Amino acid sequence: MKNADEFLSEASQSPELTTWGVGPWQGEWPLGDEFDPELLANGDTRNVLDHYRYWKMEAIVADLDKRRHKFHVAIENWQHDLNIGSIVRTANAFLAAEVHIIGHRRWNRRGAMVTDRYQHVRHHPTVDDFLAWCNASGLGPNGGALPIIAIDNVPGCQKIEEYDLPESCMLLFGQEGPGLSEAAIEAADAVLEISQFGSTRSINASAAAAITMHCWVEQHVFKRR
Ligand SMILES: C[S@@+](CC[C@H](N)C(=O)[O-])C[C@H]1O[C@@H](n2cnc3c(N)ncnc32)[C@H](O)[C@@H]1O
Repeated sequence: MKNADEFLSEASQSPELTTWGVGPWQGEWPLGDEFDPELLANGDTRNVLDHYRYWKMEAIVADLDKRRHKFHVAIENWQHDLNIGSIVRTANAFLAAEVHIIGHRRWNRRGAMVTDRYQHVRHHPTVDDFLAWCNASGLGPNGGALPIIAIDNVPGCQKIEEYDLPESCMLLFGQEGPGLSEAAIEAADAVLEISQFGSTRSINASAAAAITMHCWVEQHVFKRR
């Protein structure tokens, strides 16, 4: 069995095999503006795909910007919900166009695992500001308003499993405890629940966000509907 030093030394010679980071670049440095001389010299331990190892952060963001999906993600932040970081991380993984924080500007970044650096995050102080941005965005059908799809299990909601999500849309989530505010539900074009079968009233907000984003991926990337 290899010891840690042998493992790390082997990994630094085969950077593409590692997932936790790579050491200094071995051999002649690669050419290209995307490469960061500091990372090439010192190694790259960031939480990025191996494809992006040694890339400058701006180069990664620019590359992601070329192929972002058309769904946006929004979450209400009136109580500094700890789920927001985790939602930002999932939005990065599924390549959301942007993440929108409604309410307090400050949010707990811990769960984001630094993925927020690669994600466009926009702040709206109130639901009205958020709604005005969606209406003026021109990102919806025929250059119109971006449809707001609220996700919560409230009376009158429809089932996400039976709903055709618009390709360009805003997926809006509430906070642990109160869920979506009345103003947010009123602003929505549709309210969808994720079907549950057990005894709990709800699932965790970041779990709900991950399921919802993956529903969008199933419908619009894998064309399963
Ligand atoms: C913990 S829930 C709180 C509210 C929930 N309506 C209740 O009755 O307890 C917090 C957020 O997670 C999301 N969520 C949790 N479970 C959900 C479900 N089954 N369907 C849709 N959204 C859900 C929603 O965005 C919701 O605002």
